[in-house]
Amino acid sequence: MIIAVSGAGLALVGAGTGAYQVTRQPRTATGPWSLASATPEDIRLDALRHAILAPNPHNLQPWRFRLEGDDSVAILHDPQRRLPETDPFDRQLTIGFGGLIEIARMAAAARGYRIETVEFPDGVAENGLNGGVVARLSFTLDAGVAADPLFNAVPLRRSTKEPYDLARAVSSELLARLIEEDAPTARVLGTAEPARVAAVRQLVLDAGEIEGRTARTHLESVRLMRVGHAEIDASPDGIDLGGPMIEVLRLAGQIDRTSLADPASQAYKAGMEIQRETYGSIPAALWIVTPGDTRLDQLAAGRAYVRVNLRATLLGLAMHPASQSLQEFPEMRGPFSRAHQLLAPGGGRVQMLARVGYGPQVPPSPRWPLQAKLVPA
Ligand SMILES: Cc1cc2nc3c(=O)[nH]c(=O)nc-3n(C[C@H](O)[C@H](O)[C@H](O)COP(=O)(O)O)c2cc1C
Repeated sequence: MIIAVSGAGLALVGAGTGAYQVTRQPRTATGPWSLASATPEDIRLDALRHAILAPNPHNLQPWRFRLEGDDSVAILHDPQRRLPETDPFDRQLTIGFGGLIEIARMAAAARGYRIETVEFPDGVAENGLNGGVVARLSFTLDAGVAADPLFNAVPLRRSTKEPYDLARAVSSELLARLIEEDAPTARVLGTAEPARVAAVRQLVLDAGEIEGRTARTHLESVRLMRVGHAEIDASPDGIDLGGPMIEVLRLAGQIDRTSLADPASQAYKAGMEIQRETYGSIPAALWIVTPGDTRLDQLAAGRAYVRVNLRATLLGLAMHPASQSLQEFPEMRGPFSRAHQLLAPGGGRVQMLARVGYGPQVPPSPRWPLQAKLVPA
């Protein structure tokens, strides 16, 4: 994934419509983060409006929801939403579903409901989600349910895809608090130790280079790029490239999907440079390891990931996944085995790798409204 921008074109910011266009932000794309509006009476809709804020690969939001009876919801995969090049078995998609289910659980608990989850009620397809039911959730009022303190961080959580402050180390005490919670099915591990961080950094940079220079994996990202506020509002998903600099370059005709796809272009080169700067800025790293790589392992990894991302938010830390080295396409075999030697020498599957540090405040990422994701019973 790249974010492209270049210093060129800034002189174009002038008066009149240009300046207006340049400073415009997406208007509707981040609406689903405003949770202050009336709480839906139906607990399922309340849980789902929080759950759609879960982190998910390339912000594909590959989910759909079917309300069933009075107290259940089927969480379905949308077969139109896949990443066949970088996620050929829908492993990363499934991790995203895990985060969604975990936030739904927290939102239900906040109103005193327990969720019973049946994963893959119609069976598991290891090769792909194929538009099937990922999980069925049933909601029951239960006086014994405890609220989860991490729930407060749901609207504040971000994937902070910016360079971090390298002058500010993440102390080993803070890192230990961040990763303290460990489920037997999804272990959360981390390091701020300089030699290990340096090895992770080289791995992340090498893997990013491969993904960015392999035409079909790069094009998969480019196709998902939304350039400028109007595109982001029209399709509030994918890789959103917004902000004044992008608007200037877009108006100047210097950035669009065609230029971003072309390795000879300025936009592509600038994008790769920004990618190196961002992904290379690693004060500390964390990763999640599961015993195997079943669908249940992947869901567990997603639940663990969103929990650690929410805990980071409460601790004032920024996080950003760097998944390239964990992907299954053939060109990535070298970094994939290096990642496993480095991060899971005792065995297991590394499901997530993320950089951790102190970063700037960033706006929330786009989301489709919940209504757009409901399918008839
Ligand atoms: C399984 C998984 C893998 C991800 N890998 C990357 C990645 O390699 N690079 C990246 O910038 N973001 C990655 N992300 C973060 C998503 O891009 C991010 O969650 C999405 O854009 C929505 O933004 P938000 O988390 O700020 O709401 C990943 C997220 C998940 C769940």
